[in-house]
Amino acid sequence: MPKHPFAKTSRKPPKKLQFQPTQWFDRLDSTNAHLQQMFRENHAIADGTVIAAREQSKGRGRNNRSWLSVAGKDLTFSFLLRTQMDPTEQVALPLVVGLAVATSMETLLIQPRLKWPNDILVNGKKLAGLLVEKLNNPESGESAIIVGIGVNINTEHGQISRIDQPATSLILEKDHEFPLTQVLDVILSHLARWIDTWEAEGFDAISPAWLQRCEMLNNEISVTDTSGKVIKGTMSGLGPQGQLLLTDQAGVTHTLWSGDVTLRS
Ligand code: BTN
Repeated sequence: MPKHPFAKTSRKPPKKLQFQPTQWFDRLDSTNAHLQQMFRENHAIADGTVIAAREQSKGRGRNNRSWLSVAGKDLTFSFLLRTQMDPTEQVALPLVVGLAVATSMETLLIQPRLKWPNDILVNGKKLAGLLVEKLNNPESGESAIIVGIGVNINTEHGQISRIDQPATSLILEKDHEFPLTQVLDVILSHLARWIDTWEAEGFDAISPAWLQRCEMLNNEISVTDTSGKVIKGTMSGLGPQGQLLLTDQAGVTHTLWSGDVTLRS
C-alpha cells in the first residue's frame, strides 16, 4: 500500500508560505514594532505580510540592543508568520531564518557563516541579524510570529565603523552597490523555501545545511546563559529543536536553549 506522504512524521499537511507584496515605508521607528502595531489593530492580518523601511529611527536588536542601519543604504524589514509548528519546535525558527539569509547571500557570491543562534557573519564580521518576536491575540488565544531582518547592504566604511561590533556589508565585500529591492526578493524566496521545508519535514531537514555553514562547530566556545552563568566547552552539534549542544571539559554535554556565544579560538 502506498505510504501517505506525511505518515512518517505525522505532521499536518503543511501550508505554503506566500509572501504578500512588500509594503515600503520611508521612515519607521522599527519595522518589528510597526508590524506588531498592525497586528494589534487587525489580528486577522495576513500570513506573509511584509513591511520594509528605507530608514529606521529605533531599530531593535536582540537582548534589548539597538540595531543601527543607514537610511536608504541598508535593508530593514519584517514579516508576519502564522506557523502550524508546535511551540517547542518554534524555538528553531531563528536558525531556519538565518539559514535562508545565508543561502540567499550565496546567490550573490557571498559565503556567510552562521553563529548560533542567529548571527550571519562574513570573516567574523556581522553582515545581518534577525529578531524573532511572538505575539498573542488575548481574545482568540491565537498567536503569530514577527521576524525582523536587518542586512548591511550599501553601507560604506565610515558608517559601518559606528556599529558597536565588527560589521561588514555587501558593498564592502563585493565592491559594488546592490539594489535593495532585488536583494529583498532573493531573501524572501529563500525564506519561503526553507520555512516550507521546516514546516513539512521538521528541523531534521534544516540541521545539516545549518551545521555545514556553522562558524563554531567543534570549536571552543563560551556561552553566557540568561542568568549570566558562563559555560565553556566545545560545540558538539545541534539538538532536535536547534538547541546548542556544548560538551565541557568533563565530557558532559549541555543542551542550551538560549544564550550569547563567544568563540574562544
Ligand atoms: C540582532 O542581531 O541583534 C538582531 C537585529 C535585527 C534587526 C532588524 S532590522 C528590521 C527589524 N526591525 C527591528 O527593529 N529590528 C529588526
